[in-house]
This record gives sequence, structure tokens and C-alpha cells, in this order.
Amino acid sequence: MGGLAYERLHANLEALKLNVIGSIVDNYLELAAKEDKPAVEVLDHLLDEEVRARNASAVETRLKLAGFPAKKTLDDFDLSFQPSIDPAVLEELRTLRFVHNAESVCFLGPPGVGKTHLAIGLGMEAASRGFSVYYTTASSLLDQLRKAEQRDGLDRKLKTFGKYKLLVIDEIGYLPMKREGAHLFFQLVSRRYEKASTIFTSNKPFSEWGEVMGDPVIAAATLDRILHHSTTVNIKGESFRLRARQRAGKPAPLAEAVAGGGDA
Ligand SMILES: Nc1ncnc2c1ncn2[C@@H]1O[C@H](COP(=O)(O)OP(=O)(O)O)[C@@H](O)[C@H]1O
Ligand SMILES: [Mg+2]
Repeated sequence: MGGLAYERLHANLEALKLNVIGSIVDNYLELAAKEDKPAVEVLDHLLDEEVRARNASAVETRLKLAGFPAKKTLDDFDLSFQPSIDPAVLEELRTLRFVHNAESVCFLGPPGVGKTHLAIGLGMEAASRGFSVYYTTASSLLDQLRKAEQRDGLDRKLKTFGKYKLLVIDEIGYLPMKREGAHLFFQLVSRRYEKASTIFTSNKPFSEWGEVMGDPVIAAATLDRILHHSTTVNIKGESFRLRARQRAGKPAPLAEAVAGGGDA
């Protein structure tokens, strides 16, 4: 192959940023000529490769931007270990209808039962199906909002956090919020309410969020919005980490032994 048409083909592929086609077109055209492939098949194959590669790299970018602390998939979650979770509820969540409908999801339960795993699993699912996702812990979220407020940029920051189609706020309740933190948290929840979906995880039942947030009135107003359109999954089982340690013949760390309850 050569000549003017060949040169222009490559120049135009470059101008249109069809890089994948640019890299495979020579070989493929040769093959197509040998096998007498119809033009429509050739075009279809080339464009399909380009689109496929773009989707894959878009997913990769979205996963990177999401900032997950670990890779956890729903397929890796062993439901038989956690009978308190209704598989039908998890199946429904997996459809991501809750993201389309801008609803909330809450995973509640003691340490080690899989709250973070499930939140990340749903987040990865959403990212790979085209939604913008961001993962943060409650304390990092409040840090970011506080810093933005000090720089007079709270509104812009809230807007940024408001844009993600799915926001995961992990570990609510491990650290108490203080009143001004609770205010910031409330503003964020209000901003996203009925507009975009949020997954919350907490080791504390809703009845203790007043204490966690340091203000029962703001907590009630926040929960009112969170729970208006929401699915709550209460996980009651034992810690997966603890069992893994026991299986390995290691003693349980004190905090988890206490949280797991002494039934031995
Ligand atoms: N049912 C499960 N199947 C597979 N792995 C699990 C399960 N539950 C928890 N894990 C794993 O155990 C560890 C603790 O789970 P994690 O989600 O961090 O708990 P939590 O956030 O509730 O404290 C993680 O490595 C997680 O992947
Ligand atoms: Mg966790």
C-alpha cells in the first residue's frame, strides 16, 4: 500500500484521533484484501476496535479518579458467610437502578463484616458502567470541606462533590464529627439529595448518629434526607477479618474480639 490516499488516510485518522484504527489499519486492510472481506465488515471491525479501546480506557480512568483504597468486587464477596444480607437486595443494588434514581444506600454493621467491600464493589460496578464515582471516608470528606471553607471555596467544593453520579462515604461514626463538621456533612447531603446517589457505611445504627454528629437536630435533618429514598443493609454477622485470623491460628486483636461478642 502507498500513495496519496494512504498518506491522507493516516493523516485523517490522526486528525480525528482514531489512534487505535491508525495502529491496526495497515495489517487489517491487507488481511481483508486477502480474504476478500466486504467493505462494511472492514469498516465495522475497525470502528468497533476503536470504540472498544476507548470504553476500556474510559473505565480505567474513571476507576483511577474514583480513588478506591482497594480493589473489591461484588463477585469476590462471599454471601454465604453473611446470611444477614438478603441476596435479592444485593442483586437489586447491582442493577444500579439506585444510581439512575439518585437514591441512597446505607451499609450498617460492626467492623469487618464487609461494608467497605460492598460499597467499593458497587462503586466499581458503577464506574465500569459509565458513572462518575468518588470514594472517600467521612473524615477525609470533612477535612476537604473544612479546608475549602477556610479558603473561601466551600461552595465550589460542594459543587464538585455534588457532581459525582455516585459518592461513597465510608466509615461514618468512627470519629465524632463536632458541630461544624456536622453542618458541612448536612450541606453535602442536602446538595446531593434527590440529585445524585450516595452510599454511606457506618458502624453505628442511625439511632446513634445524633451522638456521632454531635447535634441531634442536624442528625435528624440529615437522616431525613438520606432515608427518604434509600436502601439500608444491616449486616449482623461476624467479622471476616477475625475469622481469617482464627483460621490462621492467630489470636484476635482486642477491639474485634470485643465487637464480635464472646460466644466461645
Ligand atoms: N463476605 C465476604 N466475602 C469475602 N470477603 C469479605 C467478606 N466480608 C469481608 N470480606 C473481606 O474482609 C475484609 C474486611 O471487610 P471490610 O469490607 O473492610 O469490612 P468493614 O468495612 O465492614 O469493616 C476485607 O478484606 C473484605 O474484602
Ligand atoms: Mg470499612
